[in-house]
Amino acid sequence: MTVTIVGSQLGDEGKGALVDRWGGDADVIVRYQGGDNAGHTVVEGGDEYKLSLVPSGAVRDKIGVLGNGCVVNPRTLFEEIDGLRDRGLDPDVRVAKRAHAILPYHRVLDGIEEEVKSDSDLDAGTTGRGIGPTYEDKAGRRGIRIGDLLDREVLRDRLEYVVPQKRALAEEVYGLDVAASDHADAFDVDALLEEYADYGDRLAADGMAINCSQFLHEARQAGDRIMFEGAQGTSIDIDHGIYPYVTSSNPTAGGAAVGSGVGPTVVGQGEVVGIVKAYLSRVGTGPLPTELDGTDREEELADHIRERGGEFGTVTGRPRRIGWLDLPMLRHAARVSGFTGIAVNHVDVLSGLDELKVCDAYELDGERIESMPATTEEWGRCEPVFREFDPWPDVDWSAVAAEGADAGLDALPAETRAYLEYLSDAVDAPVYAVGVGPGREETIELANPFETA
Ligand code: GDP
Ligand code: IMO
Ligand code: MG
Repeated sequence: MTVTIVGSQLGDEGKGALVDRWGGDADVIVRYQGGDNAGHTVVEGGDEYKLSLVPSGAVRDKIGVLGNGCVVNPRTLFEEIDGLRDRGLDPDVRVAKRAHAILPYHRVLDGIEEEVKSDSDLDAGTTGRGIGPTYEDKAGRRGIRIGDLLDREVLRDRLEYVVPQKRALAEEVYGLDVAASDHADAFDVDALLEEYADYGDRLAADGMAINCSQFLHEARQAGDRIMFEGAQGTSIDIDHGIYPYVTSSNPTAGGAAVGSGVGPTVVGQGEVVGIVKAYLSRVGTGPLPTELDGTDREEELADHIRERGGEFGTVTGRPRRIGWLDLPMLRHAARVSGFTGIAVNHVDVLSGLDELKVCDAYELDGERIESMPATTEEWGRCEPVFREFDPWPDVDWSAVAAEGADAGLDALPAETRAYLEYLSDAVDAPVYAVGVGPGREETIELANPFETA
């Protein structure tokens, strides 16, 4: 029995909150792609946890797995685990030996390449965590895997092959004077070997390195329930998103199989829940047809939503761009991942507005289209066709959440219900949960996917 959680939009839809909410019914929680570019927030009682690598189930003492599809920076992983220990948790994290390691030179190259790309407006506004360069090395068959850290000889061989190439790239292509920069150690085989072999020792000593596919197979044989925790979102998927303003992995549901070593049938026989933010927010660059930035009034509205929704990047602190909900984007997401249900977050943030719009379709070159076009240039030319909704009043959302535990949707204002119904029809999937605040208890649950799976 599996439940897969997928971001439906541009990341930061509130995936962490739902993984936390339903993770209580799971035994193992698996990240299948991405790395410490993710920032997943869990709010339990008064405590807020912002998790970049450790799967969100750690807060509930579940086993957290970083699958082979992830890129893992051991430095940040251990910092995060130690930080959680300081806060009284004892996270049990396993890392696939087939996952690729992020090394310091990946971060340096991420920064340099973004700067160079920005001259041509091709920078994605990355999180600077070295994600793209690490996946590049994976595809180029020169990457270093977590399993390689466990064997000093193998690690040395791998580093001796790749580091001179990375150094030449930095120096000869990008003109960085490595020796004179702050990054000399990032391109030094001996320094890297020392640090990364130590991480390998710690992974081995703590029994953290696993054969992910086999581990999950055995867990399933033993009757464990597995939750796949997607990071990022569909529109920044490397294949299905707004290339090149994307991340370098597959957040969509197919990634859960490839990135963990279970069959697609295992994912497909379970539930696939799309997490939807009731409007759009975006930290990176690229077009955004429904962005609220055209007029002073729109900018005021965006400021209001940004403040109210705390729309500042979890990883980087950057203010997020804000837009109206985009249904063509959601139809695309529902199709690519095969959503069996959706969870809609942040409906509290939209309360008390004096106007409320949803982009129902686009107009592209005089034609009405209902799904995202396949090129980012076309998407940039799309004009949103809006549909107006009656805004809902600001209410006591904690009280609504409490009442929702029994009354379900009836606890919500009628206008909110109309909005949700329209959304659910558009993606042809039922609403499983509605977020009315960041806390675990501030999600109105209409169905628990572990009970329907
Ligand atoms: P993720 O990356 O998809 O896990 O999302 P983030 O954690 O990066 O961003 C979502 C933010 O919204 C976090 O600060 C959450 O605590 C918060 N949040 C989640 N659901 C809700 C909701 O329904 N209402 C409000 N107001 N905040 C929410
Ligand atoms: P969670 O899991 C929102 C964006 C970056 C940039 C692009 C590429 O918290 O939803 P990268 O560092 O991955 O190479 O950056 O992707 N991005 C995210 N945006 N939420 C995230 O994760 C993101 N992870 C990456 O802003 O546009
Ligand atoms: Mg996030």
